[in-house]
Amino acid sequence: MARGSDGKVVRPFAFFRAGAQQDSRANRPILVFEDVYKYFRKDQPTLRGVNLVIERGEFCFVTGPSGAGKSTLLQLVYRKHTVDAGRIRFAGRDVARLKSSSIPFLRRNLGIVFQDFKVVKHWTVYENVAVALEILDMPPRLVRARVAEALERVGLAGRGGDRTEGLSGGEQQRVAVARAIVTEPALILADEPTGNLDPHLAIDILTLFEEIHATGTTVLFATHDHSLIGKRDHRIIALDDGRVLEARTGLRSWPGAGESKPPTHEGSGLRVVAG
Ligand SMILES: Nc1ncnc2c1ncn2[C@@H]1O[C@H](COP(=O)(O)OP(=O)(O)O)[C@@H](O)[C@H]1O
Ligand SMILES: [Mg+2]
Repeated sequence: MARGSDGKVVRPFAFFRAGAQQDSRANRPILVFEDVYKYFRKDQPTLRGVNLVIERGEFCFVTGPSGAGKSTLLQLVYRKHTVDAGRIRFAGRDVARLKSSSIPFLRRNLGIVFQDFKVVKHWTVYENVAVALEILDMPPRLVRARVAEALERVGLAGRGGDRTEGLSGGEQQRVAVARAIVTEPALILADEPTGNLDPHLAIDILTLFEEIHATGTTVLFATHDHSLIGKRDHRIIALDDGRVLEARTGLRSWPGAGESKPPTHEGSGLRVVAG
């Protein structure tokens, strides 16, 4: 945990924590979708009536076939898009109603990790992580301490001086995870973070997110990879036809889930949560 010169823990993002209601907010769900609709085409909603409650400290898979709306669901949270109807509350705030000047504050409270890493290859590992702190006007000594801690957490201790382009895919994704966690966000949104990795590296990265989760961070991990989901017993939020179906505890609990064959939603006994 980063500490300022007075020894206090530095929490630069008071935006979502400030105010008299702070204590009651701490017990609220971190993320709530209320009857959310998103249309990219008038006649065909991508999301239609999504209701979801994510409690603080949860680890959830978001799954569904390609085109099901997994990325859209995450993108609505970080305001890449806005909802067409319904409401998304992050830490009690209505995300759609944030002024555009407040969006950077929203994003500083989120850690976002993508399939294609989005690291700057000609920068060093250190620079790729430190960039997330640059806007905060922190003392350089504190930036160095925070970056070193983040790199240690992702297994890249001492690698700050390496050029990022020389790293393997799995290592580059670790740099991206370090960049996402260095600001100590309350919520991590990972959009197919293992999609470009071999199966054994995919497990390593999943495990890394689980380690971050174990320290108290809420994680939404979007993947269409049932072989990955099947190895764990996390809550599953499955998107199908613009709605949410969910099984609370892992693929193995889905009736009819065979060893080799991914389950279908039909006849699975999944609870229709929204619709
Ligand atoms: N920016 C966009 N413009 C138009 N259509 C989009 C856009 N983003 C997503 N869509 C559409 O929304 C649907 C869901 O896409 P997406 O959220 O990327 O699914 P997933 O991540 O599950 O593969 C797809 O039909 C896709 O074509
Ligand atoms: Mg996607």
